[in-house]
Amino acid sequence: MMGVMEAAPRHLLDVDEWSDRDIEALVSDAAQHRGQLRASNLRGYRVALLFAEPSTRTRLSFEIAARNLAAETFTIDPSSSSMVKGETLVDTVRNLDALGFDMLVLRHHRAGAPWVAARYFGGAVINAGDGWHAHPTQALIDLLTLRQAFGGTDEMRGRKVVIVGDVLHSRVARSNIWTLTRAGADVWLCGPEAWLRGLDASPVTLTTDLEAGLRGADAVMGLRVQRERMHGTSLSLGEYVEHYQITEERLARAAPSAVFLHPGPINEGVEVTLEVARGPRSLVLEQVRNGVAVRTSVFAALQPSQPRPAHVPDQTSSATRDLSSAIR
Ligand code: CP
Repeated sequence: MMGVMEAAPRHLLDVDEWSDRDIEALVSDAAQHRGQLRASNLRGYRVALLFAEPSTRTRLSFEIAARNLAAETFTIDPSSSSMVKGETLVDTVRNLDALGFDMLVLRHHRAGAPWVAARYFGGAVINAGDGWHAHPTQALIDLLTLRQAFGGTDEMRGRKVVIVGDVLHSRVARSNIWTLTRAGADVWLCGPEAWLRGLDASPVTLTTDLEAGLRGADAVMGLRVQRERMHGTSLSLGEYVEHYQITEERLARAAPSAVFLHPGPINEGVEVTLEVARGPRSLVLEQVRNGVAVRTSVFAALQPSQPRPAHVPDQTSSATRDLSSAIR
């Protein structure tokens, strides 16, 4: 009997929508190429980058990746787009679709925005972070970075990875929990009670005790303290630093070869000391470098079979001719 063929993914909305096999293929491809230039296979394709929330690493690495593949990139600045005049996300996406873009990279403050975009966009949608919900490419970067640190694919199994900080509001944590547990890691979430509240303990371990979280950990992942979200919790920044800041002294409880990761942006001196963030255990800039590799592989994996028509007006059309003569 013929096996059932699994369709290749069309979008990257979150990692839990990709099979283990697709994730493995993506991370292996990124590890192999490490974002090096390869035969340009997106020539003639157009990529729209719509970031409705600030970004340094994600936007730039998507742009570098797309250009490495010879795609044409178009960055939409929401502050100078018609979104400030009240255009809805759906309407913006419908217009990008009408303009014939092949891929849309979307960061949005609303959880679920990429799923909405995928309903109205004929090409591939890539989630570059939606609200508190998901950040799939960051999770793939972190998986690749940890695999490299531990020495291979099979080395993830049983490794203790502790994610420390504001887990509740972290899209990075949510996507990482999925990929790391699927890879067989022993995932712990550690932070103040208010930032673990309501989280499902299975298949991870929750603790408010940093000492317990760090004990024997092979990897420690810090999260940005989202100061804008501290209102409404009884915790002060000072208390957070006192009880949860990752310091060299506290890292002594982790495994001797433990590594430190952080998706960025980092509040140096808040969730982590400068000494750790820039020290020998830190893989923070390796994560950034892997960002280009992973995003290059994501574009390659989602490449539509051919570019969509660009809808460029025919220069010889009567409308263009009439307009040219009118302004002469
Ligand atoms: N990790 C991450 O998403 O960083 P940026 O917000 O700078 O893109």
